[in-house]
Amino acid sequence: MKKQFAFIIILAVFTYLLPTNLDAQPYGYEGVQVCGTCHKTEKQGEQLKIWQESKHASAFKTLQTKEAEEVAIKLYNKKAVEAEECLKCHASGNGIDAKLIGAKFKVDEGVQCETCHGPGSAYKSLKVMKSKEESVKNGLMVWKDKTEIEKSCKSCHNEESPTYVDFKFDEMWEKIGHPVPKK
Ligand code: HEC
Ligand code: HEC
Ligand code: HEC
Ligand code: HEC
Repeated sequence: MKKQFAFIIILAVFTYLLPTNLDAQPYGYEGVQVCGTCHKTEKQGEQLKIWQESKHASAFKTLQTKEAEEVAIKLYNKKAVEAEECLKCHASGNGIDAKLIGAKFKVDEGVQCETCHGPGSAYKSLKVMKSKEESVKNGLMVWKDKTEIEKSCKSCHNEESPTYVDFKFDEMWEKIGHPVPKK
C-alpha cells in the first residue's frame, strides 16, 4: 500500500514537471496595470503616465469610431473591431489562447507595454526584473540599437496602414519615449 502511494506521488510530480521541461509554455499577457504597479513613480520614469497620455493607449478605441468603421467596411466589409486586418496593429494578444490572457489584461488598452516589450508573465516579478539578463531570458524584448527600435516601430507604422503618414522616427520617439531618469 505504502509503495503504491509513493509511486502515485512520484508519477504526479513527474507529470507536473514534464510539460514545463519539455515544452516551455509560451508567455502570457499581464496588462498595463500590472506593469504600471512598478513603472509609475517619478524615480522610475513614469512610464505608465507617459503611455496613458500617448495615442497608443487609445489605439483600440480608435477602431470603435465612425471613421474607422467606414474604412473597415469599405476595405473588408467588416466592423473594424472585428477585423484581424485592423486589430493586428491597433490591439494586442489577438487570437491567442485565452489561457495566456491574464485577469488584468484589457484589449481596449490598445498598443500596450507588452505589445512592444513582449508578454510579461515570466519576467514581471521584481526578482527577475532587477536583472536585465534574467528578464530577457524570460521573454523581455530588447533592441540592439536605434536602427532596430525604428524597425520595430515600422512593423506597424508602414504603408499597410490605411491612414499612413510618413513615419519620422526622431519626432515620433520624442512623443512616446519613456526613459528611466539617470541617477
Ligand atoms: C514588481 C515590479 C515590476 C513589475 C510588475 C514590472 N517591472 Fe519592469 N522593471 C522593474 C525594475 C525594478 C526594473 C529595473 C530597472 C531600473 O529601474 O533600473 C525594471 C526594468 C524594466 C525594463 C528595462 C529593462 C532594461 O534594462 O532595458 C523594461 C523594458 C521593463 N521593466 C518593462 C516592464 C513591463 C513591460 C512590465 C509588465 C509586463 C514590467 N516591466 C513589470 C520592476 C517591475
Ligand atoms: C503594434 C503596432 C505599433 C507599434 C509596434 C508602434 N506603434 Fe505607434 N501607433 C500605432 C497605432 C495603431 C497608432 C494610432 C493610434 C490611434 O491614433 O488610435 C500609433 C500612433 C503613434 C503615435 C501618435 C501619432 C501622432 O501623430 O501623434 C506616435 C508618436 C507613435 N505611434 C510612435 C511610435 C514609436 C516611436 C514606435 C516604436 C518605438 C511605435 N509607435 C510603435 C501602432 C504601433
Ligand atoms: C500596419 C498597421 C496598421 C493596420 C493594419 C491598420 N492601422 Fe490604423 N493606424 C496605424 C498607425 C501606425 C496609425 C497612426 C499613424 C498613421 O496613421 O500612420 C493608425 C491610425 C489610424 C486611425 C486614426 C487616423 C487619424 O487621423 O487619427 C484610424 C481611424 C485607423 N488607423 C483605422 C484603421 C482601420 C479601420 C484599420 C483596418 C481596416 C486599420 N487602421 C489598420 C496602423 C495600422
Ligand atoms: C510602442 C512601443 C512601446 C510601448 C507601448 C512601451 N514601450 Fe517601453 N520602451 C520601448 C522602447 C523602444 C524602449 C527603448 C529601449 C532602448 O532604449 O533600448 C523602451 C524602454 C523602456 C524602459 C527602459 C527605459 C530605460 O531608460 O532604460 C522601460 C522601463 C519601459 N520601456 C517600460 C514600459 C512600460 C511599463 C510600458 C507601458 C506602460 C511601456 N514601456 C510601453 C517601446 C515601448
